[in-house]
Amino acid sequence: MSIKVVVGAQWGDEGKGKIIDILSKDADYVVRYQGGNNAGHTVVNQSGEFVLHLIPSGIFHRKVRCVIGNGVVVDPEALLREIESLKQKGFSVKGRLFISDRAHLIFPYHRIYDRLREDKKGFIKIGTTGRGIGPSYGDKAMRSGIRLVDLYDKALFHEKLRKSLLEKNEIFRKIYGVKGFKFKAIYSQYLAFARAMKPYVCDTALLLNQAIREKKNILFEGAQGTHLDVDHGTYPFVTSSYVTAGGAAVGSGVPPTAIQKVVGVVKAYTTRVGEGPFPTEFASGLMEEIRHKGKEFGATTGRPRRCGWFDAVLVKHSCMINGIAEIVVTKLDVLDDLKVVRICMGYKYRGKIVRTFPASLTVQQRGVPVYEDHAGWLSDTTQVKKFSALPKNARKYIHRLSAILSVPVTMLSVGSHEKQTLLV
Ligand code: IMP
Repeated sequence: MSIKVVVGAQWGDEGKGKIIDILSKDADYVVRYQGGNNAGHTVVNQSGEFVLHLIPSGIFHRKVRCVIGNGVVVDPEALLREIESLKQKGFSVKGRLFISDRAHLIFPYHRIYDRLREDKKGFIKIGTTGRGIGPSYGDKAMRSGIRLVDLYDKALFHEKLRKSLLEKNEIFRKIYGVKGFKFKAIYSQYLAFARAMKPYVCDTALLLNQAIREKKNILFEGAQGTHLDVDHGTYPFVTSSYVTAGGAAVGSGVPPTAIQKVVGVVKAYTTRVGEGPFPTEFASGLMEEIRHKGKEFGATTGRPRRCGWFDAVLVKHSCMINGIAEIVVTKLDVLDDLKVVRICMGYKYRGKIVRTFPASLTVQQRGVPVYEDHAGWLSDTTQVKKFSALPKNARKYIHRLSAILSVPVTMLSVGSHEKQTLLV
């Protein structure tokens, strides 16, 4: 039996989809525990390239059961679209997809609210994906959210939706000067969604705890990255869920004591989408070069990703709060053409060097990175089949990352295909 959590240790887009797909070969269950369709997990396998937003990346292995836990916010329209598109490509989710009846729902008013807040002058712009994630989690925390289970109790759903719209429509009209939503259309649309989702909805905490008793292998698939966690991230420039490994227990109903190992995924450099501090961000020339080479455009929104050097202070913090025991480094090949590769070891702020990741937004924004420079390897690594065959400087770079983080690097990725993966 193995119960593992895979988390992103930066700001998301570390390449978790590919790693989950590889690790899924030994898994019985793959579980999403937070976030929603703001995520975009890219998997390239024999059948082609797929971008998943809600369904766990284990879906391509036919013996794997995929679970969407209670900590996820579900947009039924996006979910049903994803199920349909998988079906068209020959991957049936029937009998293999389980969605928590406790998961909260995203409604059209959440999506609109998300965009209106972002565009409102004077409000902080986060650069969200516009999928209604924050407003749905907001309703959950305010205790006005609507859960999947509620859809199957018509009278209760009627009452909850009516109350929710009363409040939302007043906000839309009075603060944003836009028209509200009509009850009837949403009510009947969501009842239809409920019918379509029925075969998948169950108590997934029961299912997973039964799986633990049967000594099954469970893999938790983190979405986004540690520094987008609502508690541990670069607040307020974060998402609204518990991205970190602890979130796997909260967002699934699996006891924290059952989790055996946490695997962290990092890129060989750093990227971030949306607003917020990014100490090691490249200046424009290198930014375009790496963005182009690494195809750094959001899998969900298509937005260009901001790129920068590997920030060891940021990742060290992630290792600590997640309890990361193994690291997977992705996209090493993107650095192939660089003469020098830099690792950020601290931030200079007011004459002092800060060596642990600061909580203060001001220090995160104004701290000047202190770098350690390494000679590049200046050769193509995309066809390399084993770690020992990598250029010496590439191996040195990986060994150095591992030494700084005090965590072994166990896997390396040098391209998007599953075959471009090396064991260290
Ligand atoms: P939200 O999750 O849509 O509310 O967006 C909040 C922040 O998280 C924004 O900066 C987004 O760009 C970022 N974000 C959300 N999901 C992802 C993801 O899957 N990868 C990278 N960034 C993300």
